[in-house]
Amino acid sequence: MSVFAQIHPGNAFIIGASQGIGLGFVQKLLLEPQIAKVYATYRQQETATDLITLAQSHPQKLIYLPMDVTDEAEIEICVKKISQDVKQLHLVINCVGILHDSQLKPEKSLRQISSENLLKYFQINSIASVLIAKHLLPLLTHQDSSVFACISAKIGSIGDNRLGGWYGYRASKAALNMLMKNTAIEYRRRSPKTIVVTLHPGTTDTRLSQPFQSNIPPEKLFPVERTVTQLLDVIANLKDTDTGEFFSWDGSKLPW
Ligand SMILES: NC(=O)c1ccc[n+]([C@@H]2O[C@H](COP(=O)([O-])OP(=O)(O)OC[C@H]3O[C@@H](n4cnc5c(N)ncnc54)[C@H](OP(=O)(O)O)[C@@H]3O)[C@@H](O)[C@H]2O)c1
Repeated sequence: MSVFAQIHPGNAFIIGASQGIGLGFVQKLLLEPQIAKVYATYRQQETATDLITLAQSHPQKLIYLPMDVTDEAEIEICVKKISQDVKQLHLVINCVGILHDSQLKPEKSLRQISSENLLKYFQINSIASVLIAKHLLPLLTHQDSSVFACISAKIGSIGDNRLGGWYGYRASKAALNMLMKNTAIEYRRRSPKTIVVTLHPGTTDTRLSQPFQSNIPPEKLFPVERTVTQLLDVIANLKDTDTGEFFSWDGSKLPW
């Protein structure tokens, strides 16, 4: 039985699907007969050509929508468009994240700390997910089970931090974990059948990890296809009591 046949039939929403892990989820879910519709977001057309091409070959099942997660109005508009099409979502995965860009580099030392860079990490890696949780609540509140998962990172575990460095990325993922724990508690009251989790994907061969891959043994660098298969397996095995937890790609619970 396919992974998805074991869980909820219904509609999926993948945020940050232009490339990397998000695009991998879209490719996988398109093959799942249990999934009726896949809504997928991108920020800029230039990096979203694969997603757009895929949507053109699956016009009934895949709908792509623009959304920059740093703008709450764009989140609201995107969710409104989905709710004009369907009344329920069953699987939501936020795959948006940033580690580096042309200006941003992970800090090796306090000397490299800047409030501007820290704010950018928090805005994209932490705040976006809780804004999405705010606007998605009506679409997740229904009688069927649903999952709201955000891709975090083991490096955001405070208990597991032995090396230091990467201040902004680590702290923004730790903040994401806390914001999702809080969301899980509130959703339990307001949308009791929604399981809210954060997931560590393992080091995966994407743009995000690309500059740091030289020190990683090949067997520890997962292709995107492997990562999404593993994470869908973790999702498929979630129980109601797992809401608010932080899971690794192999299904083990990570320390906060
Ligand atoms: N790869 C790894 O080894 C690894 C390890 C641990 C955790 N993670 C986490 O896994 C998640 C997915 O990362 P990835 O490896 O797939 O990285 P990626 O290939 O760089 O993809 C990141 C995605 O986030 C989107 N994004 C960035 N800023 C955005 C914004 N302001 N608004 C909307 N979308 C935005 C990107 O869109 P554009 O195409 O427009 O830039 C892209 O779709 C992230 O949360 C990352 O922290 C990855």
